[in-house]
Amino acid sequence: MGAARLGTTDLETLLTAAAAAPSIHNSQPWEIRPVPGTFRLEVRPAADRWLPAADPTGRARLLSVGAALFNLRVAAGHLGRRPRVRLLPDAGDPGLVAVVDLTGLPPDTSRQPDLYEAVALRRTSRAPFTGRPVPARTLTELASAVLTEGARLYLPGVVATRRMLALTAEAERRNRRDSARVRESRAWVHAGNLPYGIPAAALGPLDATGRIPVRDFTGAGRARRAPAVPFERHAQLALVVTRRDRPADWLRAGQALQRVLLLATARGLRTCPLHQALEWPDLRSALGGESNRPQFLFRLGYGPQGAPTPRAALTAGAPARGTQDTTQAYF
Ligand SMILES: Cc1cc2nc3c(=O)[nH]c(=O)nc-3n(C[C@H](O)[C@H](O)[C@H](O)COP(=O)(O)O)c2cc1C
Repeated sequence: MGAARLGTTDLETLLTAAAAAPSIHNSQPWEIRPVPGTFRLEVRPAADRWLPAADPTGRARLLSVGAALFNLRVAAGHLGRRPRVRLLPDAGDPGLVAVVDLTGLPPDTSRQPDLYEAVALRRTSRAPFTGRPVPARTLTELASAVLTEGARLYLPGVVATRRMLALTAEAERRNRRDSARVRESRAWVHAGNLPYGIPAAALGPLDATGRIPVRDFTGAGRARRAPAVPFERHAQLALVVTRRDRPADWLRAGQALQRVLLLATARGLRTCPLHQALEWPDLRSALGGESNRPQFLFRLGYGPQGAPTPRAALTAGAPARGTQDTTQAYF
């Protein structure tokens, strides 16, 4: 049995799911194009949407692209296809970060329907959580999910949690003193009328107790924010780590972080990244142990749903490079 041709509706399903991924400052730094006449999609980082001050190496950008790639895989499974992903498939074309081949049938039997539902439900929740502990068996399940993506999930105890929050607080202090970063971060916050960036309504309050250094996107405390409120007493943190630190590892970590965020969502949890310390090389090193490359730190727990954040509309695009066929519909 051959695979049915990828129709317009299938493509829309795939690309809508990819676009729902989290991304640094909601920059949505991916370009995903079908290769006409094939069952392949090419994935490239968007050249014009990245954060040179906070992310000069492009690591967070590739984490975001990896998260979109994972959503694409989940949507492909939902459509009854078995996606085959090749990361950085062409040494001569480093901008081509992944190719997703959707020829494969029958569907992936390991696919988890609840992850597809979670794609649209997941949002960053910057509110205080209730403090209800996350059950140990759920934490174990989350850690196993990350392992399947070639990364590991470190769940810190009380002392390590305190240390990670202190490193994040130090990053937050540095961010406020760094005018280039403040300018950059502010440029991604808006009144809610743009397809990229974060609407001010999706930003959360500061923690009145000072324990949880949530990110102040508007910088230096100058812009108006909601009044500070007390956050949960014991933050449950989780850190995605990889063994190595090459672009392929960032793409893997991006897929791993999205798998764990979706699974957490499917289990009724809310999640909120605390990425500030990962944006300062010395603080990032201090977050991990000898053999760990820290990639993504987040807080999880029970609490209110985050506010929605817009996504760019699927627009007509050029065919993937090197192809002649322009007859197919693109998004
Ligand atoms: C690599 C990365 C780093 C992020 N860092 C932070 C952060 O430090 N603080 C924060 O509140 N959100 C952070 N986010 C969440 C994004 O702001 C969020 O995904 C984006 O605004 C889209 O909103 P959504 O997650 O609700 O769909 C990060 C996301 C990614 C992928």
